[in-house]
Amino acid sequence: MKNFSPHQLSILAALPIGFLAGMAVYIFGDGIISSLALFISLTIVAYIIIRFTIDQFVYRKIKLIYKLIYQTKASKKEEFYYKKILPQKSIEEVSEDVEEWAVQHREEIDLLRKNEIFRKEFLLNLSHELKTPIFAIQGYIDTLLEGAINNPEVNKKFLGNASKNTDRLVNLVDDLDEITKLESGEQLLLTEGFVIQDLIKEVFESLSIKADEKTIRCYIKKGCEMPLTVYGDKKKIRQVLVNLIDNSLKYGKENGTIEGSAYSIDGKNILIEISDNGYGIAEEHLPRIFERFYRTDLARTRKVGGSGLGLSIAKHIIEAHKETIHVRTKKDVGTTFGFTLPSIRPA
Ligand SMILES: Nc1ncnc2c1ncn2[C@@H]1O[C@H](COP(=O)(O)OP(=O)(O)OP(=O)(O)O)[C@@H](O)[C@H]1O
Ligand SMILES: [Mg+2]
Repeated sequence: MKNFSPHQLSILAALPIGFLAGMAVYIFGDGIISSLALFISLTIVAYIIIRFTIDQFVYRKIKLIYKLIYQTKASKKEEFYYKKILPQKSIEEVSEDVEEWAVQHREEIDLLRKNEIFRKEFLLNLSHELKTPIFAIQGYIDTLLEGAINNPEVNKKFLGNASKNTDRLVNLVDDLDEITKLESGEQLLLTEGFVIQDLIKEVFESLSIKADEKTIRCYIKKGCEMPLTVYGDKKKIRQVLVNLIDNSLKYGKENGTIEGSAYSIDGKNILIEISDNGYGIAEEHLPRIFERFYRTDLARTRKVGGSGLGLSIAKHIIEAHKETIHVRTKKDVGTTFGFTLPSIRPA
């Protein structure tokens, strides 16, 4: 049953009072006119008193609750709301409003809690990633200082190892810098048109030493040779391709292949794919591989993995282009990463 508004409630309570008084006067023989007059005047008086009481003791308190939940100082518009609309609302509607507010706040609190967990995880991962190269550098320098510097057999090697770890630190900081900039949206995209197959070939070429080490063959898929022009930030798209192809090289099998392909989907978009026939990714990892620092057990145990930032950067870049990136993979069969780019200059 719907609850009544204060106005209806006051009328409903005032009517029987006026009616009973009117009836009593009629029964005691005071005539219809005076009993009607009493009925009307008593009903009006009772209405005013009841309405006043409800407003004073119930609606003022509800108004306070409203002010609190909306955390506002009443502006003119809100004053109107409190004066005209709120008194029309039934208690049921008020309770619905409060419930809605509670749900909203619960969602906000959930989000804050999630962010807090994310922040803690991020700091933990970050300090771990920083510690590894820093401790290595410290170890090599200490050993050199303790006398190894005079040992011509190891001194250069130790310095070289320390330098490699310094590079790792620099790469890590650069990656973090890139992610932060992409996340804050402070980096503008420098969009231009370019042939995507040429860029893929260029990246294959730049990573050819790594590919040769594992005798992995990199090529553009048959049937995808027709040049397709895409619009995007070329430097950043190169970074995406480097990250994807670098992964395919790291997690690909010896003597394997890496295929680059490009398809026009609907005349407006181009789908670009990088496929390998490597170890693949187990299904349980799939929902998380685009997260910062996330690596599968394979990447951890094989010691080929980096910091787990490559895919996160790729995703940020593609999303900055307002496009999407996705993955298809089967364990021990291979992995395909695909993303889309516009084939017409964006407005
Ligand atoms: N082509 C692939 N085949 C198999 N596993 C992959 C492939 N690409 C990514 N992965 C898995 O996803 C994880 C996340 O990849 P991502 O590129 O973000 O990190 P990474 O390669 O470990 O480090 P980084 O790219 O920072 O050097 C990898 O650690 C790996 O486990
Ligand atoms: Mg990577």
